[in-house]
Amino acid sequence: MIKLVYMTAKELREKFLDFFVQKGHKIIPSASLIPEHDPTVLFTTAGMHPLVPYLLGEKHPQGQRLTSVQKCIRTGDIDDVGDAVHHTFFEMLGNWSLGDYFKKEAIEWSFEFLTKELKLSLDRLAFSVFIGNNDVSRDEESMSIWKALGISEKRIAVLPESDNWWGPAGQTGPCGPDTEMFYWSDDNDPAPEIFDPNDKRWVEIWNDVFMEYNKTVEANFEPLKQKNVDTGMGLERTVAVLNGLNDNYKTELFWPIIEKIEELSGKKYNSPHLSFNIRGGEDQENPPQPSFKKEGVELSDDTRAMRIIADHIKAATFILAEGLEPSNVERGYVLRRLIRRAVRYGKQLGIKDIFTFKVAQVVIEMYRDVYPELLKSREFIEEQLVREEEKFAKTLEKGLKQFEMQISKIKNQNDNLKLKIIPAEVVFDLYQTYGFPFEMTAELARESGLEVKKEDFEEELKKHQELSRAGAEQKFKGGLADNSEATIKYHTAAHLMLAALRQVLGEHVSQKGSNITVERLRFDFSHQEKMTPEQIKEVENLVNQKIQEDLLVKMEELGLEEAKEQGAMGVFNSKYGEKVKVYTISENGKIFSKEICGGPHVERTGRLGRFKIVKEESASAGTRRIKAILE
Ligand code: ALA
Repeated sequence: MIKLVYMTAKELREKFLDFFVQKGHKIIPSASLIPEHDPTVLFTTAGMHPLVPYLLGEKHPQGQRLTSVQKCIRTGDIDDVGDAVHHTFFEMLGNWSLGDYFKKEAIEWSFEFLTKELKLSLDRLAFSVFIGNNDVSRDEESMSIWKALGISEKRIAVLPESDNWWGPAGQTGPCGPDTEMFYWSDDNDPAPEIFDPNDKRWVEIWNDVFMEYNKTVEANFEPLKQKNVDTGMGLERTVAVLNGLNDNYKTELFWPIIEKIEELSGKKYNSPHLSFNIRGGEDQENPPQPSFKKEGVELSDDTRAMRIIADHIKAATFILAEGLEPSNVERGYVLRRLIRRAVRYGKQLGIKDIFTFKVAQVVIEMYRDVYPELLKSREFIEEQLVREEEKFAKTLEKGLKQFEMQISKIKNQNDNLKLKIIPAEVVFDLYQTYGFPFEMTAELARESGLEVKKEDFEEELKKHQELSRAGAEQKFKGGLADNSEATIKYHTAAHLMLAALRQVLGEHVSQKGSNITVERLRFDFSHQEKMTPEQIKEVENLVNQKIQEDLLVKMEELGLEEAKEQGAMGVFNSKYGEKVKVYTISENGKIFSKEICGGPHVERTGRLGRFKIVKEESASAGTRRIKAILE
């Protein structure tokens, strides 16, 4: 067991928050992993995510100075998980100025925290600032603030956007130049006088972003109404650094999970990175500086597998705690990939039984005090993991055999070809029949020196989806599955609502899906932002007005082309020449709604009762979801 001698994660979280409270900040709780204010991303990827509206100018109820520890998921470098420092789940320590202080205070406080609170030696610190571009000038101000704090110019790198520009987190939103802080982690050599950002022994620990701009849909950078500060310090990395560990998995934030995996597999974790706790000792006021030495051991497959399992099951546990379930789309798909990849590596380690829920139990115990939602969802988390693992375990072995067979066939066939590509049908079959996420097949392929093509797979997937959609439509033609009076009313309400949404939000709104029960209507539609309470009211009022007007719902059969010409909404994938049903709701010849639809519908809108939107939320990137009822 690793002995932690200098600072625990709990101490670091508290120290950080206390420090910023002393500087007039209010602590805000970690928000959900599902971003409420940004439909362009699947998960919360930074502490600033829940603050997007306030960075754009809305007033935050807690004031202009905020601080938090935010749980985050980043899936961008999921394939890098397995090394010592990349994670899909991590915690971010942050402080914010919402139009209050700017560069001077932000930098001075970062400096004070690093050198006074964490007692890191100035000699081991380096910094970077933004070089400037066509739109934004070089960040001379940050440069001179660092210099005034006693930093030599040789330790300040001046770098382009790729390094020193942050955001937006999604496709649009607040962003700006940043200044980053690095710690020299090697004890074999003293920190060089000149900072070389390409030398990996400099570990980035903190980022202060000066959010002055808003990136628009057209990719323009508009100045924001207010100048903000957004900072982020990675908890796992900083805890590792403070404890002289250059393997995050050896910190308390992972080690109990690794121990569990050792126990389950009977294998040993053998980090090529030396744990080097020299920060301990008597003098806690002036602790020796943390540092690492290389052991020169190669990373073993077993150790890499353990890291992947630890990381992925931790992330999956937190995602499940949000109430999400594994599926084949969007967030659910990310969750599925994480669990299935962990299961695959568990098998590689020789774990025989269903095991991911046991790993999750350790995660829940580790984090239960900081994130009580884990304990609350304990049963659901375990149940879902067992279900997903059982489902996948059944086909994994057969799928792997199938994969082996296919690649030996390919290898034999194309012996003289350099680049060997697995055909899309094979990749699709592994996905469809054996439940292999595309990325898993891609990984297996790479391990065997082969390649897969994502576009081809997607093409194959699309072909398949079109086939099954055609099947579903065929069924739909026979009428709704449940033709009760209540569902028929909801069906008509959906048409009124789509028309109202287009009137209130704009013509970009189209239907993405709907689900009707006798109790409610769930409706997904394309729209980027969260609807304001005013917009929701407006849609409600408009629908209710059309109900009160007791309009006729008229059905006619038209040719597809004709329906299209008349501006009917709906799916235009029927065969040419085929007749489609078109439902029109109009008043004195003025059309309110016209949709191609199988029906059935009520005859007059007056029968619907009172329409009420009970929830508006993000369904996925660029798609909003409304739940509505008829009273
Ligand atoms: N939002 C900034 C980051 O994630 C602080 O690095």
